[in-house]
Amino acid sequence: MELILDTADAAAVKELNETLAITGVTTNPTIITKSGKTPEQVADQMLEVLSDDQLFFMQAVAEDYEGIVRDARTICALRPKNMYVKIPVTPAGLKAIKTCKAEGLGVLATAIYSADEAFLAAMNGADYLAPYVNRMCNYGDGVAQVKDLLQMLAVNGLPAKVVAASFKNGNQVHELIKAGIQAVTVPPEVVWGMVKHPGTQIAVTEFTEAWQAAFGRTTFAA
Ligand code: G3P
Repeated sequence: MELILDTADAAAVKELNETLAITGVTTNPTIITKSGKTPEQVADQMLEVLSDDQLFFMQAVAEDYEGIVRDARTICALRPKNMYVKIPVTPAGLKAIKTCKAEGLGVLATAIYSADEAFLAAMNGADYLAPYVNRMCNYGDGVAQVKDLLQMLAVNGLPAKVVAASFKNGNQVHELIKAGIQAVTVPPEVVWGMVKHPGTQIAVTEFTEAWQAAFGRTTFAA
């Protein structure tokens, strides 16, 4: 399972990269505009903290076919490998996905609100499919739709990986990991919410206090 961070905050990526096994970073236009940085600054800072083997995803902003393909070429030229363009699954986007894959670019189909949209993007060759789990819950059961998608891909032998996105809480992530999802992209604060169980720190504090009382120090080594 690939754990990807959904953020434009390079410092948050650096910290989680040192703590957990992180496959890469996704961004989108909203995340970048909210960061107060230019897209070039976000790319530069992120490529500083990611290793060459980690994946980086930036999104095409143009809405017309020619513009999407142009954005895709610009994005994929940002680094020699492991760079992916995110393309929303509009009709123009689906057409652009076919062209980008014919050119050998890495493609993540995004802004997916149904299993059918995702499946058709997979048929066009998209490498990753990003269903917006939490937003899909406004139209039904987002988690169930993604489970359907996993089955549709498996029975048809399509190799696209599902990278579930738009998470509000760790339970949604948990449910999809349990269902065998290939990847999730999660904001740093949601990842930390999955890591920092209050009971763990309470247990550690108990151990330290007992050790201090017995041996007068807070480390195993004297
Ligand atoms: O990366 C896109 C996706 O994660 C959107 O998330 O929180 O805006 O629904 P959100």
